[in-house]
Amino acid sequence: MSTCFTDKIRSEIKDIILTSDKMKERVKEIGALISKDYDGKELLLIGVLKGSVVFFADLIREISIPIEIDFISVSSYGASSVSSGVVTLKKDVSCNVSGKHVLIVEDIIDTGFTLKYIKDLFQARNTKSVAICCAFDKPTRRDKGISIEVDYTGFQIPDEFVVGYGLDYAEKYRNLPDVCVLSPEIYSK
Ligand code: IMP
Ligand code: MG
Repeated sequence: MSTCFTDKIRSEIKDIILTSDKMKERVKEIGALISKDYDGKELLLIGVLKGSVVFFADLIREISIPIEIDFISVSSYGASSVSSGVVTLKKDVSCNVSGKHVLIVEDIIDTGFTLKYIKDLFQARNTKSVAICCAFDKPTRRDKGISIEVDYTGFQIPDEFVVGYGLDYAEKYRNLPDVCVLSPEIYSK
C-alpha cells in the first residue's frame, strides 16, 4: 500500500488481494485483445459510473485502435453491500449507439443483475453488437436465474467485498490504488 495513505485508512484494510502493478499487467493484455478483436470496427466503450472509472481510464490507454467513449450510471445497491436486484438508469449515454459495436466496461460482476439490465438496454437500441468487459468477476455469486456472458475479465476473485481501484464501500475507498478487502469492523459499524 502506498505510503501516501493515512494510518486510519491503513488500519481499515485487512488484505490486499491485487496490487496496482498486477492490474496494470492484466489491463495491458485485455487492451491488446480488444484492439485485435475490434480492428476495423466502429467501437464505442461505455463505462459504468462510478466504479469503472479507474479501470476505464487505464483500459482505453491500452487500446490501439480508434474508439469512442461514453458513460452511463445505474443504481442497484444503494448504500448497502448486498444487491437489491432492482436496477434503475440514473444517467444515459449522450451519443447515438445505433450501428455501433458497444463494449460495456464495468468494475465488477456479482449477481449479474446490473450487467444483464445494461446489456438488454443496448441490445434493444439497434447496436451491431454488445459485449462486456469487467475488471473483476465473482462467479460463485451469480444469481441462478441470470444467464450472462462476460467477454473480457480482468480477474476472477473470491466472494469477498472488495474496495479500491475505483470500487467503493458507501462511496469511500475508490482512490486506493490496490484492490483490497476491508476489515470486518468497517461493515459491522
Ligand atoms: P450485481 O448486479 O450484483 O452484479 O452487482 C454489480 C454491482 O455491485 C457492481 O457494479 C458494483 O458496483 C457493486 N459491487 C458488487 N460487488 C462489489 C464489491 O465487492 N465491492 C464493491 N462493489 C461491488
Ligand atoms: Mg458498479
